[in-house]
Amino acid sequence: MGRLIVISNRVSAPKPRSAEGSQGGLAVALVAALQESDGLWFGWSGRKTDHYSGEVHIERHEGVATATVDLEEQDVDEYYNGYANRTLWPLFHYRIDLAEFDRTFGSGYERVNERFAATFAPMIEADDLVWVHDYHLIPLGQQLRARGLKNRIGFFLHIPWPPQRLMVSLPYHQRLVRSMLDYDLIGFQTDEWLESFHHYIERELGGTVEPDGTIEVDGRRAKTAAFPIGIDVREFEQVLARPDARNAYETLHRSAEGRKVIIGVDRLDYSKGLTERFNGYRRFLEENPDWLGRVSFLQIAPPTRGEVHTYEHIREELDALSGRINGEFAHVDWVPIRYVNQGYPRDGLSGFYRAADVALITPLRDGMNLVAKEYVASQDPDDPGVLILSRFAGAAHQLREALLVNPYSKDEVSDAIRKALDMPRAERIRRWEALIDNVREEDVLHWRRAFVKALEGSRTAAPE
Ligand code: F6P
Repeated sequence: MGRLIVISNRVSAPKPRSAEGSQGGLAVALVAALQESDGLWFGWSGRKTDHYSGEVHIERHEGVATATVDLEEQDVDEYYNGYANRTLWPLFHYRIDLAEFDRTFGSGYERVNERFAATFAPMIEADDLVWVHDYHLIPLGQQLRARGLKNRIGFFLHIPWPPQRLMVSLPYHQRLVRSMLDYDLIGFQTDEWLESFHHYIERELGGTVEPDGTIEVDGRRAKTAAFPIGIDVREFEQVLARPDARNAYETLHRSAEGRKVIIGVDRLDYSKGLTERFNGYRRFLEENPDWLGRVSFLQIAPPTRGEVHTYEHIREELDALSGRINGEFAHVDWVPIRYVNQGYPRDGLSGFYRAADVALITPLRDGMNLVAKEYVASQDPDDPGVLILSRFAGAAHQLREALLVNPYSKDEVSDAIRKALDMPRAERIRRWEALIDNVREEDVLHWRRAFVKALEGSRTAAPE
C-alpha cells in the first residue's frame, strides 16, 4: 500500500501539550492514525483569503504532514457556515426545523469541493489510499474521479445519517447521494445510520443492498459498513499521571468540598441537548431536596460555529437557564451549576473526568460521542464514576452498561442522576469493567485498521 491520504474540512496538526483548548474527537483520532501510517492530511487552513489561489501550505508536526489551503470569505459563508452547518448539520441531527435551504449554500458547497479536488488531486500518487471525512466533503470523491483518480477512495461520515423520510426534505438530495457512488467504501459510525442509508438507497434510488453491505445503483457499486470510532485509550490512560491532569483533578476535587461532582463536556451545540440536560438536572434538584447542597454539576461548553445564528441562540438560552437554576436553588455557600464557556486541553479534561463521580452526556443525537469514552478511560478502577449516556448517541450502541436515558425526558434524566449518585461501589465497578473493555477493544487504532483494511479490499469494479 502507498501512503494514507486523509482529506477533511478541518486539519488539526498535533498540538504541543501546553496548547490552549482541546482537540476535537476527530482530530485526536486522525493524528493517531496518521502517525502510524506516515500519512498526509489535506484540508482547509481555517483562514480566509481575498481570492482563492489554490496555494498549498505544507507543514510537518510530530510525523504528520499537512497540506492546507485558504478559502474566500464567500466560500466560508456558503460552504462551511452555510451548507455544512446550516443545512446538513441540523438535518442530519434530525433538526429539520433548524435546517436552512438556500441555493447559494449548495453552489458554494459544490464549488469548494471542486476546489479541494483540483488542488489536491495532483498531489495524490497512484498507489495512495484516499480517505475522505465527513459531511463537508460528501461529493469530493466524485470530484476526484472527475480529475482522473483511479485510487481506492473511502468516505467516513462522523455524524448520523438521517432516516430516509428526513433526507428527502433536502433539495437535490439524490444528486448528493448519487455523488457518493464514486467511493469504493462508505463508512458510518453505527448500524443505525448504515440502515438509514440502505433504506434510502433501496427506496429512493431503487438500488439493492447485498448481505455484505455492497450497494448497487444503476450498475454502480460501493461497499458500505459501520466502523464505530474510538479514542486513543492507551494515551488517555497515561495522561492521568501528568502534572496538568493531577492539577485539574486536585482543583476540581478541592473546590467540590466533599460534594459529589457531575460533569458534562460538550461543544456548545444544540445537538448536545444542553437545555434538556439543565432542565433534567433542575427536575432532579426539585425532586431530591436531600441532595441540595451535596452535589455540584460542572458543565464545560466551549462555544463553536459562532457565525451561525442558531449557535448564538443556544448560547443565550443556556446563559439564561443556568442563571435561573442557580438563582432558584443556590445558597450563599453553594451553586448547583458551574457553567464554563471555555475549552480545556486534554490533560486537564482527563483530570476533571477522574474527579467527577458522574458524567452526564445526553446529546439529542450524536454520531458517536467520544467524551463518553474519554470519561470511562479516565476512571479509577477501584472507585469508578458512573456514566449517564443518551440512548441517541452512537456510543450507546457500544456502551451498554452506562445508564442509558432518553435525553428529552426530564424524569428519566433526574432518575438516572439519583441512581448514579446512590450506586453502590460494587455495581459501579461491574458496569465500568464492561465499559472499559469495550473502550479498550474498539479504540482508535482498531477503527483506523478496520476502515483501511476494508478500503484496501473494497474495489467492487475498476472505475472507468
Ligand atoms: O462531529 C463532527 C465534527 O467534525 C467533530 O468531529 C468535530 O469535533 C466537530 O464536528 C468540529 O466542528 P467544527 O469543525 O465546525 O468546529
